[in-house]
Amino acid sequence: MRIYDGSKILIGLVIFVGLMIFPFLYNLGKTNVKPEPKIDTPEIQKLAEKKCIESKAFMQAQHMKLLYNWRDAAVRDGERIYVNSEGKQFTISLQNTCMHCHSNKKKFCDECHTYMAVQPYCWNCHIAPKEKAT
Ligand code: HEC
Ligand code: HEC
Ligand code: HEC
Repeated sequence: MRIYDGSKILIGLVIFVGLMIFPFLYNLGKTNVKPEPKIDTPEIQKLAEKKCIESKAFMQAQHMKLLYNWRDAAVRDGERIYVNSEGKQFTISLQNTCMHCHSNKKKFCDECHTYMAVQPYCWNCHIAPKEKAT
């Protein structure tokens, strides 16, 4: 009588190794492609100066905080106007301000978030824009 069945061990090993490396293979070509956020939307094309609400570096690092502050300002304090660091005014609104310019949510917000593995839950309630790219 054999105690070890070599072929079963081998099959087991193959399955085990397969399961271990599956997530890596699965993610290849999906999340490892560094996203390049596209800003070629109709609204942004109309801008004389291709500028966000604050500087690009600020937006990259702080847009989540800015959004949370906006939400608190709007919902708690009824504040609807944001004055940026240059004194320019913006309406506090995720849908009507951010997504008005960034009407390509999939190619912009989503692509970057997928890459960074973050999943903002905002769209459970807030209406995502109709996708518009040029
Ligand atoms: C459970 C539902 C829900 C979720 C989830 C949610 N919100 Fe809201 N949000 C609301 C409601 C309701 C208002 C109030 C709308 C108003 O007063 O016009 C609001 C208002 C806001 C406002 C200010 C007004 C406006 O029109 O944009 C901002 C900014 C905002 N939310 C950002 C966010 C962000 C960012 C997230 C994700 C991190 C998020 N919200 C997730 C329900 C939600
Ligand atoms: C007036 C149009 C406009 C509005 C409104 C706007 N953006 Fe932008 N956004 C831009 C432009 C143009 C750029 C590119 C800036 C640059 O390259 O200097 C940009 C860049 C960004 C970036 C950096 C992208 C990168 O390439 O890394 C983020 C993140 C961002 N925006 C998020 C937001 C959020 C969140 C809001 C709302 C709070 C918002 N934007 C509102 C026009 C806008
Ligand atoms: C250049 C890449 C990039 C782009 C473009 C981008 N984001 Fe983000 N976003 C991030 C990263 C990275 C985080 C996570 C930051 C952290 O956890 O500190 C994040 C987090 C967030 C959060 C907070 C999520 C949470 O779970 O706390 C919100 C809300 C958000 N982004 C909204 C947006 C919206 C709306 C847009 C499009 C208008 C956008 N982002 C575009 C990179 C990006």
